[in-house]
Amino acid sequence: MIIAIDGHSSCGKSTIAKGIAQSLNFVYIDTGAMYRAVTLYAMRHDCVSNQEKLAKIINDIHIHFEINPHTKAQQTFLNGENVEDKIRALEVANLVSEVSKIAFVRKKMVALQQSYAVHGNIVMDGRDIGTVVFPNADFKFFVTASAQVRAQRRYDELQAKGEHVNFDEVLQNIEQRDFIDSTRSESPLRQAEDAVLVDTSNMTREEQLTWILHYIAQHKK
Ligand code: DC
Repeated sequence: MIIAIDGHSSCGKSTIAKGIAQSLNFVYIDTGAMYRAVTLYAMRHDCVSNQEKLAKIINDIHIHFEINPHTKAQQTFLNGENVEDKIRALEVANLVSEVSKIAFVRKKMVALQQSYAVHGNIVMDGRDIGTVVFPNADFKFFVTASAQVRAQRRYDELQAKGEHVNFDEVLQNIEQRDFIDSTRSESPLRQAEDAVLVDTSNMTREEQLTWILHYIAQHKK
């Protein structure tokens, strides 16, 4: 079974996706982490704005996920290095939309994402999972929340990690990413026609997960 979770930045998608995967014992794939890892690689090779150079080194990028045996959290590896924390920094967030709108980057990531389906039951979250990666997914959810609510959640998360950020800067980053993600020509963020809309603005994490798990149980064939 394939469950696709798409939606805006910082709307709680990944928490929902992880929760579903844990409850149903499915594999969880965070496709945003993949685009973030490519961005980090491009930053390190000084080619975020140099597509010609990035095209030459794109095949040197190897991404895989591992579960931390202690925390049980999924961690992203870039060419064997654990980059989980580095890819969550604001400097990466500020550039990831630029990199993820490049056609050859998306082509490579989509192929990799589709290859994960051979492992069986998966929950994948991103922007184009229900529209491009798995148009025939068994379940498609489109998660959203107001930009203010999302910025507050992201701000709280960064503060908790000890990153000193300014709320307006976080809000601006979210609004800018929404704009780039939904207006880019390559696989723009949009709700698939057959996706179920979940607005989490006024829902707790528990309520979101309970609601989706209930929906899946009710509609499973
Ligand atoms: O979900 P996230 O915030 O970690 O995603 C980071 C960026 O990657 C986001 O700005 C859009 C992009 N992305 C994408 O274009 N397609 C996906 N399937 C997942 C993420």
